[in-house]
Amino acid sequence: MKYDILVIGSGIAGMMAAIEAKELGSNVAIVMKKSPLANNSFMAKGGINAALNNMKDGDSIEHHIEDTLKSGVGLAEEEAVRIFCEQAPQVVRELYRHFKVPFNTLSDGRLAQRPFGGTKYKRTCFAADATGPAIMKALNKALKELNITTIKNHFALNLLVNDGKIAGVSFLDEKTGEVKIIKAKSVIVSTGGYAGLYRGYTTNVSDATGDGIAMGLRAGLSGMDMEFIQFHPTGLKGSNYLISEAARAEGGRLINSDGKEFVDELNTRDFVARAILKQIQKGKEVYLDLTDIPEDIINTKLINLKKRVKSLKKIDITKEPIPINPLAHYTMGGIKTDTYGKTEIEGLFYAGEAGNNGVNGANRLGGNSLSEGAVFGKIAGYQAVKYSHRNKNLTEIKKEDIQKDVELIEKLKNTPFDAKEIKHQLGDILYKKVGIIRNGYALKKTLEKIEELKKPDIQKEDSNLIEKLEVLNALDIAKALTKAALSREESRGAHFRLDFPESDYAFLHHTFTKI
Ligand code: FUM
Repeated sequence: MKYDILVIGSGIAGMMAAIEAKELGSNVAIVMKKSPLANNSFMAKGGINAALNNMKDGDSIEHHIEDTLKSGVGLAEEEAVRIFCEQAPQVVRELYRHFKVPFNTLSDGRLAQRPFGGTKYKRTCFAADATGPAIMKALNKALKELNITTIKNHFALNLLVNDGKIAGVSFLDEKTGEVKIIKAKSVIVSTGGYAGLYRGYTTNVSDATGDGIAMGLRAGLSGMDMEFIQFHPTGLKGSNYLISEAARAEGGRLINSDGKEFVDELNTRDFVARAILKQIQKGKEVYLDLTDIPEDIINTKLINLKKRVKSLKKIDITKEPIPINPLAHYTMGGIKTDTYGKTEIEGLFYAGEAGNNGVNGANRLGGNSLSEGAVFGKIAGYQAVKYSHRNKNLTEIKKEDIQKDVELIEKLKNTPFDAKEIKHQLGDILYKKVGIIRNGYALKKTLEKIEELKKPDIQKEDSNLIEKLEVLNALDIAKALTKAALSREESRGAHFRLDFPESDYAFLHHTFTKI
């Protein structure tokens, strides 16, 4: 199989990249681990940021830039932030007008916007509290209408590189259990982040194990700012269910078990998550109280939340506060790229959560992820097409690279180990020791534990090949993230060190991690 452009991953960045490349006339395939709607973009709820100023509160692109830079605490790259904030309005309008995403509108037909954290402006466009599904269904429809080749149930194994140029990608075909090679002039990796590593403590789909990032690290690329993990303040306690920031945007209050408020609910997520953790460490329960929100608002704007909390916990959110705790939600770190998604391998681009062009810095602003994925996915699609026009011939694939993958799969088939158990142990240690609050001793212990987990002596039961491959990736990523967290001897944004509680000018730089 060969294509001009090969996109890996079907979240918002991958879909936008594939659609852009196809609309520019390229021969495109999009490959996914499962199916088009099984990803974190589909799980996104509260909304998508664009400075439209539809609520006439004085918002502007400049304010969006300021808020995004401030939230990134000195590590957000101004060029990437500027491009993002300037293009978000037109991309969100495109989602609405061209792809017909059913966003909530005002009486005059313009898009409604709600306030999210880290800004005083109402900047977040939304489709009730199911914005991700609304966008992803619309993009999936476009994918079909444009006849973009869609390859499901293929797990990306390795980037095939020859003389510094991308030649293609090897995959495990889940159905046949065989290694398959797809050649391409240009490849875009948009496989998402690694918050799923915090198994048992994450809002993410369970297979968000950073596979594309691990593949990039194995190809010699650098992970940038891998230590920055965003914990969403409001996970439904005892579950992985995300209670959208939309609930606080519509007036929800955070209270402790004494009924006291203890934080500005709409501060940035790093700040709010830490304030909640401190309450929990003092032995308090923390609740999100929506009982003051008028029922018609709940029924129109938070209806999915109402139904889910009822079905999961038998709680009527109009009458009782909801018990919450923070959950790993998003990863700011990823494979280092330039502003446009280009990597150090010619013809290879990363977009969305898998890549890091510096747009989020040390902490992402709530509501920026969907628009960032859309903007930079589209840009990566355009850049990949431009590259493929200049480089008309496919690069030759080295036979020994294919052989290595075939051998790896054979070895895994013949090495029984319990990948699920390893994932659980990893999730546990990461949440407790590389979580919202960290310290050097715990980080060093975590590195030792990761090495232990790499020796698969846990043989209670054997796992399937995909789970085994995921766990190998997860362990590589966990090591990179813990190493980066250990090296940053300061506190900044989502990275808080108890042993270095202040920000330090000497660390006002990105970290780069290789494996
Ligand atoms: O709370 C939420 O709805 C999440 C939004 C985001 O991560 O941007």
